[in-house]
Amino acid sequence: LNILLAASEVVPFAKSGGLADVSGALPKALKDLGHDIRVVMPRYYVVDKEKYNLKLLEGALSVHMGSMGEMWAAVYEGKLPQSDVPIYFIEYDEFFGRKGLYGEDSDGFSDNDNRYIFFSKAVMQLAKKLDFRPDVIHANDWHTAPISLLLNTTYAFDPIFKNTGSLLSIHNLEHQGKFYKGAMDVLGVGWEHFTVKELEEYDGVNFLKGGIVHADAINAVSKKYAQEIRTSEFGFGLQSLINDYEYKLFGVLNGVDYDEWSPSIDKLIPFTFDIDNLEGKEKCKAELQKEFNLPQRSEVPMIGFVGRLAEQKGIGLISSCFERILEMDIQIVLLGTGEKWAERFFKEKAEQYPLKFASYIGYDNTIAHKIEAASDMFLMPSLFEPCGLNQIYSLRYGTIPIVRATGGLDDTIENYDAYHKSGTGFKFYDASPIALLNTVQWAVDVYYNDKEGMQALRSNAMSKRYEWSKAAQGYEEIYHHIINGRLNSHH
Ligand code: ADP
Ligand code: GLC
Repeated sequence: LNILLAASEVVPFAKSGGLADVSGALPKALKDLGHDIRVVMPRYYVVDKEKYNLKLLEGALSVHMGSMGEMWAAVYEGKLPQSDVPIYFIEYDEFFGRKGLYGEDSDGFSDNDNRYIFFSKAVMQLAKKLDFRPDVIHANDWHTAPISLLLNTTYAFDPIFKNTGSLLSIHNLEHQGKFYKGAMDVLGVGWEHFTVKELEEYDGVNFLKGGIVHADAINAVSKKYAQEIRTSEFGFGLQSLINDYEYKLFGVLNGVDYDEWSPSIDKLIPFTFDIDNLEGKEKCKAELQKEFNLPQRSEVPMIGFVGRLAEQKGIGLISSCFERILEMDIQIVLLGTGEKWAERFFKEKAEQYPLKFASYIGYDNTIAHKIEAASDMFLMPSLFEPCGLNQIYSLRYGTIPIVRATGGLDDTIENYDAYHKSGTGFKFYDASPIALLNTVQWAVDVYYNDKEGMQALRSNAMSKRYEWSKAAQGYEEIYHHIINGRLNSHH
C-alpha cells in the first residue's frame, strides 16, 4: 500500500512525548511489511538540516490559507535513521522557525491554529507534488486531524486522492486543538461545516472533533483506552460523538523500539545485563546512586519515575502522599519536566530528603535509560494513559511497574499474584493517594519479604515483548478495512 503518515513530532528529529516514538518506529515496521510508507513533519527550528543531511526539493509548495492568502513552503527530504523510509520536512519559518514545538511552558502558541492548518494543507500539497497517490493518509492527534476534513472537502475531487482514505490515531484526547471560530476562514472549507455535528464546539472550532467525524477510521492506541474514551470520565467532552462513530474505532496497541530499549545492547547505560545475568543491573543501580548522591546501598529498593510532569501522569496523587511514601526504607529517583508547581515541589523534596529522594528536572534521554536500568520498580500512577511506553520499557529492564489500571497501563501490566507467582507488576484501581500509597507499600513488602516473588516478577516482565512488527500488522488491518470501506461506498 501507499501510506503517507503525518505527525507533528518524529524521533529523532523532534520529540515531546510518546507520539514521536510512535511516528519514528511504526513506519519502519510498515516498510518491513512491504508498504511504500512516507512520513511528513514540520521543519522546526530544532531540526538540524546538516546533521541529518536533509536535501532541499526543487520547487516550493503552494499552500492556500483561505483569508490569509497563499503561502509558500519549502520541502526537505531525509530518511528515518537506519531505514529506507523517506521523511519530508515542511519548512515555513514564520510558523516553525521558532523555539519549542507547540509553545512555551504549558501555554500553546497563539497561532497554533494557523500553524497546523498550514501543515495539514502542506501534507496534501506534498502528495500532489510527489505524485504520490496514497491509499491511506495516517494523521495523528489534533495537529493533523484537519487532513481528514480536507480530504473530504477541498480535495474531494482531486484525482491524486481518488482512492485515498484516512486514519486518525488518537494518542491523547485531552488535547483537541480548540480555537476561535475565525480559523474556519483559514481552513476555507466553508462555514456549512461549522455545526455541532462537525467542527463547532461552544462557538469555537475543535480540530480533533472534525477529524473524528471525517476520518474513515480512528485508532486509540490501546484496547482499554478505546473503551474508556466512550465514557464521560475519559472522553473530555467528546464521548457521545465517539460513541456515534464507535463502528470505526480501533485500539491497536503501540510497540516499542527494542533496538533502543534493551538492557543487553543499550549503549546509554554503564553496564549491560539480561534475564539470565542481572549483575549489570545491580552495578547500574550503584552507579546511579553515585550520580545522584544517594547512599550506596544495594539492598534498598529503588523506585524510578520518568515522564512529563502533567496531571495526566498522576503527579497530584504522588505529591499528596509523597511524605508518607518517603517514610518507607526506599530510594526514589525522578526525571521530568512540566507543570511549574510540580517542578518546584520535587526540587524542594529532594533538598529535604537527600538520603531518599533525588530528582533531575529537565529532559534527558540518557538519564531516562539509566533510571530504567537501575531501578527495581517504576512508578506510573496515571489518571489516564492512552498507551504509555515507559512501563513497557520498564518490563524489558526488569524494573517492575507500579501502575494505575487505566488505558494501556491496564492492557500491558498484569497484576502480581503471590500464590501463583504470576504477573508483571503492581496495579491499583482507585485514583486516590491512599490506593497509591498502599500499592507502593505492597511492592516494597514484596521486595523485602518475598524474594522468590520478586524474582518471578522480574523474569516474567523481562520475557514480555511488545514488538512493532506485531503492532504494524494491526495497522495494516485497519488500512485494509478503510480501503474496503471506500470501495464499497464508491461502487
Ligand atoms: P507521553 O507520550 O504521554 O508523554 P509515553 O509513556 O507514551 O508518555 O512516552 C513518553 C516518552 O517520552 C518516553 O519515551 C519517555 O522516555 C520520554 N520522556 C518523557 N519525559 C522525559 C524526560 N524528562 N527526559 C527524557 N525522556 C522523557
Ligand atoms: C500520548 C499518550 C501516551 C502514548 C503516546 C504514544 O502522548 O499520553 O500514553 O503512549 O501518546 O501513543
